[in-house]
Amino acid sequence: MPPKQRKIAVMGCKSVGKSSLCIQFVEGQFVDSYDPTIENTFTKSTRINSQEFELNVVDTAGQDEYSIFPYQYSIDVHGYVLVYSITSAQSFKIVKLIYDKLLDIVGKGHVPLVLVGNKTDLHMQRRITEEEGKKLAESWNCVFLETSAKKNSSVSDVFHSLIHEIEKANGNVQEKSSCIVS
Ligand code: GTP
Ligand code: MG
Repeated sequence: MPPKQRKIAVMGCKSVGKSSLCIQFVEGQFVDSYDPTIENTFTKSTRINSQEFELNVVDTAGQDEYSIFPYQYSIDVHGYVLVYSITSAQSFKIVKLIYDKLLDIVGKGHVPLVLVGNKTDLHMQRRITEEEGKKLAESWNCVFLETSAKKNSSVSDVFHSLIHEIEKANGNVQEKSSCIVS
């Protein structure tokens, strides 16, 4: 089967670790210094359940109250990763605003989406409990993961879960099949 092209947008407040998650997933490394993104696209091939996927991962400029959902990210995007930092209540608030706007613009009941609480290695600075993240994801009926881009914890799960959600939305997943990631 030819590879399936899938476009994913990674969104969330500034400095939550969107680029770090992308770089860890695509290049397998972590950079400590902070370099704000304007916009960047990564490509990566990955295989799930013997199907090859060619991912275009759009790493967006961090959003704030004034740029909640730039219109271009509603076009041709198959699924979204919404990232907050577990160390920032503000970033948790912003992720909710992005979600509301996303539904407004895309206008569908269910958009393939993964909610991500990043920076779990910073235990001492935690402001958002895992329970709060879980609850929010439940209310959105979407997948929730806590990650550390620094420690490479659950990073590839984010992208693989999202592909699975996209396939589900396209009717390409039988209900009982489990997601076997290789
Ligand atoms: P913008 O491009 O401005 O929107 O920011 P961003 O969301 O892409 O954040 P970026 O990946 O640039 O990370 C911001 C800062 O947080 C950098 O200094 C990273 O090294 C740091 N960082 C990212 N992920 C983690 C993590 O999981 N743990 C820790 N300790 N630091 C992280
Ligand atoms: Mg960035």
